[in-house]
Amino acid sequence: MSDIKLGIVGLGRLGRTHAMNIAKHIPGATLTAACSIVEEELEFARVELGVEETYLTYEEMVDSPNVDAVCIVSPSGFHTEQIRLAIEKGLHVFSEKPLGLEIEDIQKTVEIINDHPEQIFQIGFMRRFDESYQYAKEKVDNGELGELTVIRCYGIDPSSGLKSFVKFAGASNSGGLFADMSIHDIDLVRWFSGKEIKRVWALGKNAAYPELDEVNELETGAAMMQLEDKTIAMLVAGRNAAHGYHVETELIGTKGMLRIAAIPEKNLVSVFNEHGMVRPTSQHFPERFKEAFINEMKEFIACIKEKRQPSVNAFDGLQGTKVATALQKSIDTNEIVDVTSIESIRS
Ligand code: NAI
Repeated sequence: MSDIKLGIVGLGRLGRTHAMNIAKHIPGATLTAACSIVEEELEFARVELGVEETYLTYEEMVDSPNVDAVCIVSPSGFHTEQIRLAIEKGLHVFSEKPLGLEIEDIQKTVEIINDHPEQIFQIGFMRRFDESYQYAKEKVDNGELGELTVIRCYGIDPSSGLKSFVKFAGASNSGGLFADMSIHDIDLVRWFSGKEIKRVWALGKNAAYPELDEVNELETGAAMMQLEDKTIAMLVAGRNAAHGYHVETELIGTKGMLRIAAIPEKNLVSVFNEHGMVRPTSQHFPERFKEAFINEMKEFIACIKEKRQPSVNAFDGLQGTKVATALQKSIDTNEIVDVTSIESIRS
């Protein structure tokens, strides 16, 4: 079978990583087109990655006969519209998280995706493709932890990015801390437990940059969540980890517990110096989830070639945003929120 021809939209922080992976690490795929509103990024795609077609508008890119599938890595507010357009043009779609920012808009998009079952759709919950998470999932599914009682998740970005986040927070709509960051942890809770989240209570605090209050953004948030079988899930989300990129997950069950990346180590090196013994930590998501980003894209291409839908799909994207919306509502009202009160459809 000939290579799948991919077009990418968005060549920013994450788009650059996906573009490099597709161009260099994904057998059976060719990066034929790229779209960005930044000319220098298109120049990078042409010169560094050998991309033949570059576009300043997405509408032009999806009309190209040299595109079979799109990889959407644009800002979150564009995802649903770009997904719908690609599906209408007969293309396969990989979209970064979150699927969208507004539930009604996401539901409309999920309906269109579901109406085209022959076209592949995958959402970018890459942690499911990380080796350690897959190892842990196997143990949970084998019953080694017994029945799950508590799931605890930390997802904290490095403080190195906070200053620029504060600068652009008012101008760009991230969807809020929970839709932007906890969405991965929400997905992990659903994936590990196989259960839906029913009720949530969220809290937040801005300490280093109180001005984030003015744009309704959070530096640090936490939540307590109840699943449909009464399993307890706890989230801590933030943008201010002094030591780096801290993603940690703990699963507690009736027969045992496990932790994934309890200390977010960069590698196996210990440095002994005047500070004592130092274990370097992961500094950013492309470093920590390098292999996971490659693995999820390999799966997308395999699904297109084998004509099967991925296990991580539009419904997961919808449910994740529903919970994130409930968490934001809880922050706004300071009340416990029933997730079923956030309207949804089931696929
Ligand atoms: P960014 O702001 O660094 O880059 C955005 C890119 O989109 C730029 O190349 C920009 O030129 C392009 N763009 C903006 N408006 C456009 C338009 N109208 N048409 C075409 N291109 C346009 O954003 P970043 O951080 O790379 O995030 C992009 C998406 O990836 C977001 O949805 C974010 O939630 C997601 N993301 C996912 C992560 C993960 O862990 N899976 C990590 C980081 C981001």
